[in-house]
Amino acid sequence: MKKLLIIGGSGFVGANLAAMAKTDWQVTVTSHTASVITIDSVQVVSMDITDRQQVFDVIENIRPDAVIHTAAISSLDACIEDRDRADRINTVATADIAAAAKSVGVKMVFTSTDLVYAGNRSFYAETDDAKPSCYYGQTKLAAEQAIVDSGVDYAIARLALVYGRKLGPQNSGVEALLANLAAGKSFAQFSTEYRTPVYVEDLCAVLVEMASNPALSGIYNVGSPQRVSRYEFAQILARTFGYPEELIKPGQVIAANFKDHRPEDCSMNTDKLKTALGRSLSDITEGLIKIKRNRHAI
Ligand SMILES: NC(=O)c1ccc[n+]([C@@H]2O[C@H](COP(=O)([O-])OP(=O)(O)OC[C@H]3O[C@@H](n4cnc5c(N)ncnc54)[C@H](OP(=O)(O)O)[C@@H]3O)[C@@H](O)[C@H]2O)c1
Repeated sequence: MKKLLIIGGSGFVGANLAAMAKTDWQVTVTSHTASVITIDSVQVVSMDITDRQQVFDVIENIRPDAVIHTAAISSLDACIEDRDRADRINTVATADIAAAAKSVGVKMVFTSTDLVYAGNRSFYAETDDAKPSCYYGQTKLAAEQAIVDSGVDYAIARLALVYGRKLGPQNSGVEALLANLAAGKSFAQFSTEYRTPVYVEDLCAVLVEMASNPALSGIYNVGSPQRVSRYEFAQILARTFGYPEELIKPGQVIAANFKDHRPEDCSMNTDKLKTALGRSLSDITEGLIKIKRNRHAI
């Protein structure tokens, strides 16, 4: 079996990725401060990605056939509150991982974000200018550039908002919404923030394919073909799970409640990925039905 190193295995995406990839790969995941859910045959190593020596040691010891790097600080507020930390974790550490992957001659797959786009129009394509309007987006765009500059063989996935079941201690937006709906609680969701949310299992399948398929290299938008506001997403969720849609109210972003700018429309055009894969990813209803089918696992 080929070896896959997943950096950030204690995270939401990393844990789902490990659970999927273990069928075809010998998987090692890294954790930092959080514990990692036990997954049969998946090995866990501890690593702080801001320690360059540790990054090189882990990659040189494991000698994986591919590295998928998912570790980051992804809270907008946390990034702008401590810019140095965000730079170190999101940008500098990514440059170090790229250098280490290059030194052992393996492909690196990186989870970037739709927030590299300015967020003031719909359906950005990869060829559109990336001009992040929040600090988190700036750190991820700088990380992308560091990967390109490193000369490593790479695939960069610009992820839309990811939804799905959580497999560990992380937060999952969908599960929080479902808990409110199940309790009959009324709540608001932003009706002015548009995204093309991607189902976590679709995303993980794409990341694994990027790790092994040389044709899937370069930069790809990874999202569903469907553009929705957070409010519309929650309405589809309620419908799919049989809860009253009226519990969800349209909400407005009040800038004063946030430390950084929240981009309004970062919806992405995913034609490039669709052509490369020969398929579209699930639309929102399809993705939520898959979660409902696996509900016992949530
Ligand atoms: N989830 C989304 O909707 C979304 C959307 C767009 C892009 N993305 C990108 O997708 C990736 C995965 O997101 P996620 O939702 O899975 O994030 P997450 O659940 O917050 O997980 C973040 C991971 O980063 C690790 N990490 C943070 N600082 C570290 C450090 N100094 N050393 C080593 N590991 C460190 C964490 O480890 P510990 O917990 O063990 O400290 C955790 O495993 C991120 O790169 C994010 O930018 C996510």
